[in-house]
Amino acid sequence: MCGIVGYTGESRAQEVLIEGLSRLEYRGYDSAGVAIREDDGIHVVCRKGKVAELAHTLGHFSLTGTCGIGHTRWATHGKPSEVNAHPHTSCDGNIAIVHNGIIENFAELRDELALRGHVFSSETDSEVVAHLVEDNYHGDLVEAVRLSTEALVGSYGIAVVCAQEPDVIVATRKDSPIVVGYSAGDAGSAAMRGSFVASDIIAMLDATRDVVVLADGQIAKLTPNGIEYFDEQGRPCEVTHTHIDWDLDLAEKGGYPDFMMKEIHEQPRVIRDTLAGRMVGGRLEIDEFDLSPEELDLTDRVYVIACGTSYHAGLIAKNLIEAWARIPCEVEVASEFRYRNPIITPTTVVVAVSQSGETADTLAAIRDARVKGAKVFGITNVLGSPVARESDGVIYTKANKEIAVASTKSFIGQVVSLTLLAMLFAQAKGKLTTAQVRLLFRELADTADQVERILSDTDDIREAALACKDAKSALFIGRGIGSAVSYEGALKLKEISYLHAEAYAAGEMKHGPIALIDEGFPVIAIATKSPTYDKVVSNLQESRARGATIIAIATEGDEDIKNYADHVIYIPKVRDAFSAITATVPLQLLARFVALERGCDVDQPRNLAKSVTVE
Ligand code: F6R
Repeated sequence: MCGIVGYTGESRAQEVLIEGLSRLEYRGYDSAGVAIREDDGIHVVCRKGKVAELAHTLGHFSLTGTCGIGHTRWATHGKPSEVNAHPHTSCDGNIAIVHNGIIENFAELRDELALRGHVFSSETDSEVVAHLVEDNYHGDLVEAVRLSTEALVGSYGIAVVCAQEPDVIVATRKDSPIVVGYSAGDAGSAAMRGSFVASDIIAMLDATRDVVVLADGQIAKLTPNGIEYFDEQGRPCEVTHTHIDWDLDLAEKGGYPDFMMKEIHEQPRVIRDTLAGRMVGGRLEIDEFDLSPEELDLTDRVYVIACGTSYHAGLIAKNLIEAWARIPCEVEVASEFRYRNPIITPTTVVVAVSQSGETADTLAAIRDARVKGAKVFGITNVLGSPVARESDGVIYTKANKEIAVASTKSFIGQVVSLTLLAMLFAQAKGKLTTAQVRLLFRELADTADQVERILSDTDDIREAALACKDAKSALFIGRGIGSAVSYEGALKLKEISYLHAEAYAAGEMKHGPIALIDEGFPVIAIATKSPTYDKVVSNLQESRARGATIIAIATEGDEDIKNYADHVIYIPKVRDAFSAITATVPLQLLARFVALERGCDVDQPRNLAKSVTVE
């Protein structure tokens, strides 16, 4: 969602800030802005829309300041607009702030500040921070920020500049990440000297790899010559430095036309990495899932809680946990789970699935489940994320950073992790023998090669995409695991191509959705060889009889399916339990090809954010 960058040093801040903001674009945003300290005070430039538009506008000014802050905003309080875009300033214009998070008591603060004469110009919760700092400023920006945060309720990552302290940026946080780093510069390379702040390490990796992730309440004072740290009482404090050794390539497209394509192609690697080291001495082991064999055996109810694509991974897990381990498993959208008083006993296990590890709804559901006495395990992609910190144990998917807003490789990492979990429960309960678990594990590992094969020839998928590109709507159908896959296929298509798509368990067609079908209406069916194959074929016939254009995802060797479908996309034969992995990949590609045909930005779809930190 929102992103923060800041720089104070010897180079022009404008370029550094734009570069940093561009690296944060993947998070999704609707406006962007910078505040740069010039000789005559702080200059703020904001634009609705993309960072490129902000950069273009900045080209008309000749800002030469070497200290500034920048922000990409994803609207929560107040519509996307220039007025609501950050940075926000105090009444006198001497303080500018950028803020991530939500100030829950902003209405009260705003009323109090208004009584003291402050005039507000935006609809945002964030603007109160600028006015509070203005009120508290008596010649020491660190102290002003510290005092101001004492009044705040909610979550915040903040960076502040002040006209009276020309080279200083002060940053702090609570429940919203802030990272800082200093670079001494390097005459032989492009690395510039100065101090950097960001809400995501990726925004400053070009400049420095030695970073400090601020702890809640810590305050950093950045100057061109280094960074000082203070605790909540304003006393100097020690911090932990971390060296980042990931390759910046990770954040780049690696030769693919877009991040989504790159990430789709990384999926075989994700499967292999997620499985690596899990079979120990012939037995499946997931150390992080630290329930004793007895606790595993006693588990009599599993909830999977998640949102969006992660929820779909949960739907697949339900099939496997119930089929293999014979434990009742409910999958719930996190935003519903916490409001309906679910039955939780000491033998209930809750599995919270979140790529970003910071989805507010999922976090709230985790907290609620733990209060009610459940053991909660997180499945996430982000090391040290709130989901990881707030769960009793965490399994990391090995997807690595996902940049495209639409989740692809993370989903596959989640499905593989949840499949392992289902096998673990079944092993512990004695429902699957060790030999059966080993066989399943081998077949699961084989899906990496099978996905590679799917990715090696995508012509049929491209052709099928042409059949959808001008449609007004599309229907995805499947049965069993295929129905969960169809939900994910529909979500992917709608989020990146803006083509309305719905998914139904195929058996539900005749209970309503079939009314939608007329000439040329695309029906995308998961028609792989499964116990319900014949039933799906019947649904295809019913759809075709009403004029639908059928796109079938089918198992290699199934020639018969050509009699019922206009386009067949073949995938390798796998056990039905693993078909979610192989069947989802062509649907990701289909969505991408349709989106490109419709001229959409596949990496940054409108209105969406990579991590959804509001409930
Ligand atoms: C869709 C997508 C979203 C996320 C959802 C949950 O492609 O990415 O539906 O899956 O916002 O996000 P996480 O998994 O980060 O909790």
